[in-house]
Amino acid sequence: MQIHSAIAALRAALTNRGRVVFVPTMGNLHAGHISLMQQARAHGNTVVASIFVNRLQFGPNEDFDKYPRTFQADCDKLQAAGVNVLFAPTEADLYPEPQEYFVEPPAIQNVLDGEFRPGHFRGVATVVSKLFNCVQPDVALFGKKDYQQLMVIRNMTRQMAMPITIVGGETVRAEDGLALSSRNGYLSAAERTEAPRLYRLLNNIRAAIRGGANDFAALEAQAIGELAAAGWQTDYVAVRQQADLALPKSVDVPLVALAASRLGATRLIDNIEI
Ligand code: PAF
Repeated sequence: MQIHSAIAALRAALTNRGRVVFVPTMGNLHAGHISLMQQARAHGNTVVASIFVNRLQFGPNEDFDKYPRTFQADCDKLQAAGVNVLFAPTEADLYPEPQEYFVEPPAIQNVLDGEFRPGHFRGVATVVSKLFNCVQPDVALFGKKDYQQLMVIRNMTRQMAMPITIVGGETVRAEDGLALSSRNGYLSAAERTEAPRLYRLLNNIRAAIRGGANDFAALEAQAIGELAAAGWQTDYVAVRQQADLALPKSVDVPLVALAASRLGATRLIDNIEI
């Protein structure tokens, strides 16, 4: 596996490499990331991963400084997963001058996660478009666990006519259902035991809707109540349309239930397609 931190060296390494498939990450890789790397292989000749903890997408009170950085272990995992090229820029490589031009997503950036993380999706869209300019991939993969992020990136790519196919990868879960996330490492042992409740409640919502329930607000309120009783502080539990994350206009369109809730100091997000 080649490792590059400079944009020019990366571009030189990627000339004449056939179809380039790209999986951007912030490192601290788990089985969910590795599954994306393995899926990437089916979409082209050269698999490129990136590791960059992007300051622009963290709020002032978020975990940018304590976000886990595990570069050597990540390299070993990427190598074992058959990744061909790793782009691991420093902040000086990617932001050699203060970033003053941004990609500003539309109103979707202010709902659900965006309501609780102002500026987050603008930071994501900006760095992803910059990473796309560095790597110039044919295909890029993003996990469905960050459902709203996947939608923002899909829409940005389409509206900006970027010649890149965006592929969503299924969420990888621990045996008890907890969605794998770098932030799971922040959980205490007791919190880790409690954490799968979030997915169980999303499953309950799906089962209820499949069984004919259509009072989504009641389903959301019930889940929020059950989380509160178990010590969680919830930002949202929401049933939305898969296509645009808008409030469902009917039960006949594909739906998704999404949630973000805090267990102790750790904010977990998850979703389930219905
Ligand atoms: O999902 C992530 O890890 C990040 O948001 C991404 C897409 C790598 C952009 O920094």
